[in-house]
Amino acid sequence: MQKKTILKKASARKYPEQVVLVTTKNHKGKTNAMAVGWVAIASGEPMMFVLGIDNGAYTYELIQQTKEFVVAYPGEKMAKQVLYVGKNHGQNRDKIKECGMRIQKASKVRAPLVADAVANFECKLVDIFKPGDCPLVVGKVVAVHENRNPSVRRLYTVAPGHTMGSVRIIKRG
Ligand SMILES: Cc1cc2nc3c(=O)[nH]c(=O)nc-3n(C[C@H](O)[C@H](O)[C@H](O)COP(=O)(O)O)c2cc1C
Repeated sequence: MQKKTILKKASARKYPEQVVLVTTKNHKGKTNAMAVGWVAIASGEPMMFVLGIDNGAYTYELIQQTKEFVVAYPGEKMAKQVLYVGKNHGQNRDKIKECGMRIQKASKVRAPLVADAVANFECKLVDIFKPGDCPLVVGKVVAVHENRNPSVRRLYTVAPGHTMGSVRIIKRG
């Protein structure tokens, strides 16, 4: 049975929420990554993602500039790196280097692949919608990559609050 409540309390019950990484690269060659929980598949054929990316994020600026990005599903050992890039803004720093995230060249976009992710999806920007306070970025998948090691599993989530001390890894399959 359900009882009426306030938005904050109901929203707190939705966890665990999945998390992905979104990487970008500016025209000067500077790479960046952020954590994104607001992610869904927007189309199957062609495959598209829809990501809620705050307009204060450096990533949002870079996606608008370059019209491309990579969506990476982090590997299960990447919790600290996910939190690091999810808690710091990249304008004036190299978060990828600072947290030791390994990257490699993509094939069709300039944004890098995340080497230790389970899978990477190179995307070209299709559109940005603003139905509310968070821009919805839609990207079409133009190339895909999987981890060579099939035993690397996905880091599905980190705990609500996004604090380093409360990392919770939900193991899947
Ligand atoms: C687990 C987790 C999930 C997050 N989900 C989102 C999200 O869906 N959208 C968003 O705009 N920011 C999200 N963030 C916050 C961004 O990752 C954070 O603001 C980051 O510093 C932005 O980096 P940038 O400014 O270098 O692009 C999340 C952070 C964490 C740790």
